[in-house]
Amino acid sequence: MSIIKSIEQEIENHIRKAGYEIEEFTLKISDRPDLGDYQINDSMPLAKKYHKNPRDIAEDIKKELETNTKFININIAGPGFINISLADGFLIDAVNQMNIDINNNIDKKPPRKIIMDYGGANVAKSLHVGHLRSANIGEALKRLAKTLGCEAIGDAHLGDYGRPLGLVLLEIQKRYPLLPYFDPNYTGSYDDIKLPITNSDLEQIYPEASLKAKNDENYLEESRIMTSRFQNHERGYYDLWKKVVEISKEDIKTVYDQLNVYFELWKGESDAEEYIEELLKICKEKKITQKSEGALIIDIKKEGETSPMPPLLLLKSNGTSSYETTDLATIMERQQKYKPDEIWYLADARQQLHFEQVFRASRMANIVDEHVKLEYIGFGTMNGSDGKPFKTRDGAVMSLKNLIDLVKDETRKHLNYDIVEKDKVEETVSLIAMATLKYADLLPFRSTDYIFNPAKFSDVEGKTGPYLLYSTIRMKSLLTKASGLNQNNYSIIGNLDSRDVIMTLLKLPTILTKSFDLKSLNDIADYVYTLTSKYNKFYASNKILIEKNQQLQESWLVLTNIVYKTNLLLLDILGLKVPEKM
Ligand code: ARG
Repeated sequence: MSIIKSIEQEIENHIRKAGYEIEEFTLKISDRPDLGDYQINDSMPLAKKYHKNPRDIAEDIKKELETNTKFININIAGPGFINISLADGFLIDAVNQMNIDINNNIDKKPPRKIIMDYGGANVAKSLHVGHLRSANIGEALKRLAKTLGCEAIGDAHLGDYGRPLGLVLLEIQKRYPLLPYFDPNYTGSYDDIKLPITNSDLEQIYPEASLKAKNDENYLEESRIMTSRFQNHERGYYDLWKKVVEISKEDIKTVYDQLNVYFELWKGESDAEEYIEELLKICKEKKITQKSEGALIIDIKKEGETSPMPPLLLLKSNGTSSYETTDLATIMERQQKYKPDEIWYLADARQQLHFEQVFRASRMANIVDEHVKLEYIGFGTMNGSDGKPFKTRDGAVMSLKNLIDLVKDETRKHLNYDIVEKDKVEETVSLIAMATLKYADLLPFRSTDYIFNPAKFSDVEGKTGPYLLYSTIRMKSLLTKASGLNQNNYSIIGNLDSRDVIMTLLKLPTILTKSFDLKSLNDIADYVYTLTSKYNKFYASNKILIEKNQQLQESWLVLTNIVYKTNLLLLDILGLKVPEKM
């Protein structure tokens, strides 16, 4: 249990001893630090419950609290607010506990198995900024869940099954009709056939094919046929599909690698295929399907529901499955193979309805255990300075690769080439650029849109990823310089700036729990900045290395070490990697 949680329990016991029952006590950080570290505002609700004067209740509680030497400056203000501060002796013990193990400053969650679906890259299409957000937020949530003791399994869930793939295969056929994939008389193996196509060709083929389909009804129809061909595993077509997926997947992996995003499972929509038959059978047995204009649908509207809720498309009129079908079949697969407690889906705000439909249908079909929580975690858009989705200079949709290049260029402008060794420049630029991009993306509450300004977010002086990296490197370098000095025992606080750092450290468990509960990283992103800034203020006003008082010097080094370790932990949760030097 974290230090702050155990303090809360002690206070709850004191309140009980004073004669009052309280549900679950939480300490509130004081709005008036001049009056105390924390505020206890519970006398007012207790007054209603016990029909007593709140000030009398506050007096009773105060008397009880005064028996505990951990607390000082207990005073009552206004109608019955209790201000309270922590004694130095207690804070010193707390710091020593953190120094033994940083985990003493974290509250674990009851262990749960969570599948997180936060990739969603589409095969043969370039990744775009929306994919950055799901990957970035999802990866950080996964790391947070693991830190808090959950089992979390990330799945890339590639878009590898739908009509876009039919379009790509068709266009390949148009360009290279003589490839053996399209030759019905070819009986050999496809393994050694060299496809004259790279990933960047694929990224051009898709938009071209998609445009053709828009303007040409025949082409569109041909692409539909192509889709059912590979979905039905027709020889040649299915093999070409596999090849295309392979080429594209390799490229997608390198982008995720750069972003420090790793999936435990590299599955795709197509992996749900083997569950589709069973899914259709269940839906028909449960009599939840209907025919509509040749298609098979599920009416998911609830009785008496007034807002519009379109039915879920289970099978298209040509018999092929839809995005909804693969998501439902994937739920079956996840239930049967992994038996999770929760499944989290990260996708941009436009997909909210899709997930509502899928969740409702999966309950109606009962393909997932009742206790399993299905959760959609939406997010807003990354915008440019014009407030519209981030675009390239000529107004085209920004691919994720282009965005990364743009941020790297900006990073090079700020890099201190005197410090970074020549052969480390590229690696360092990449780490700083990722920190720039990822931190800016995690800083706002996830569902709000935000404006990404590359110059602002790569500034080492601001509330930015580079500032956090730079400060953390400096802490490490101080500790290295002090490696010959004692760094074991914390015994003196010394001044208000260092006390402020300790009070901030005590907040950590609350921040982690809140972030997890709200499934947004903004509080952690904000907190690591606050902790770093407070530490930097303390660092600037104390010459630690030349401090004459050895006890004080040792205490400050211990504190530095704890902040350094806490930063490493938090930056790792946010998915930021710290370079050697910058
Ligand atoms: N591939 C989809 C897209 O790019 C996102 C997939 C989200 N996950 C899911 N299980 N549907 O929009």
